[in-house]
Amino acid sequence: MEVLSNIASGKAHGKIILIGEHAVVHNEPAIAIPFTSVNTEVVIEKINGDTTIDSMYHQGRIADAPTSIRNIVETFYAVCSYLKQPTENMHLTITSTIPAERGMGSSAAVATALVRALFNFFNTELTDALLNQFVSISEKIAHGNPSGLDAKVVSSGQSIYFIKDKTAEFFHTDLPAYLVIADTGVEGDTGEAVTAVGQLVADSTSNGKTLIKELGRLTNKARKLIEEKQVQTLGEILSLAQEKLAALSVSNDKLDRLVTTAKAHGALGAKLTGGGRGGCMIALVDTNDKALEMALQLIKAGAKKTWIHPLGENKHDK
Ligand code: PMV
Repeated sequence: MEVLSNIASGKAHGKIILIGEHAVVHNEPAIAIPFTSVNTEVVIEKINGDTTIDSMYHQGRIADAPTSIRNIVETFYAVCSYLKQPTENMHLTITSTIPAERGMGSSAAVATALVRALFNFFNTELTDALLNQFVSISEKIAHGNPSGLDAKVVSSGQSIYFIKDKTAEFFHTDLPAYLVIADTGVEGDTGEAVTAVGQLVADSTSNGKTLIKELGRLTNKARKLIEEKQVQTLGEILSLAQEKLAALSVSNDKLDRLVTTAKAHGALGAKLTGGGRGGCMIALVDTNDKALEMALQLIKAGAKKTWIHPLGENKHDK
């Protein structure tokens, strides 16, 4: 493959939903934070011939890509069509440290990086609205009925308070606390979990609707507590959200075990994050030492990987 002179790239990072997942699909608020410890990059090189992809899921012609990356392929064609550019003569390299299907926004981040790379490659300015429009194409294919939250937060450096089709308020988080994130090592299936919750919400004999409303109320409380830097009560709110999510059938044994372990080792609160039924758990702790100890305990309890994410700009530990 002869690489010609043009080369361009686009990047995006992961995200953590602090509170409000699933409820956000049903028009309740959610809060998410950017998670820059994991990220993705798409590099585009100019070549002669059919466009090819080099990624974890496919190496070869884009025309032969498997359906598992149809979201990426369709986004590629949509952007090229919008820019009135040919779909040949490109080689796309996709690298990512965001684990897939773990509630960290992997699909939205790859789509964001791709759209940014394509606009860079064709020297065209990309507005936030356009970026959001193209990433939504990808997210609809990947998840069926996305709230749009992931698309917003993986391209922003700030936390977000989000209500579907209504509010996207970016704000600064500076808390004397840390999040310990633990990966169950099990892939979740956001589309399937969203459908299951949707069925509960539609079923008037279940308390699905009430649970969603309660999650919305907890998210609004969490927002106030973040502003007031009340981490103790914020932790309690996160644990209450976990109870509602479990009642909505999106937790599972592995997540429950990690939540219990975190609480037994000093977490102020703990819950699943993202689609659930696998994926990751988050625990809120007030010191770095506790976060380090908790990360060890979570690995002992079966977590495949952990991350520690400071929620403050400065070291708040005494
Ligand atoms: O699993 P993730 O990272 O795609 O997060 C999904 C969050 C949901 O609220 C369950 C779905 C959505 O579209 O907001």
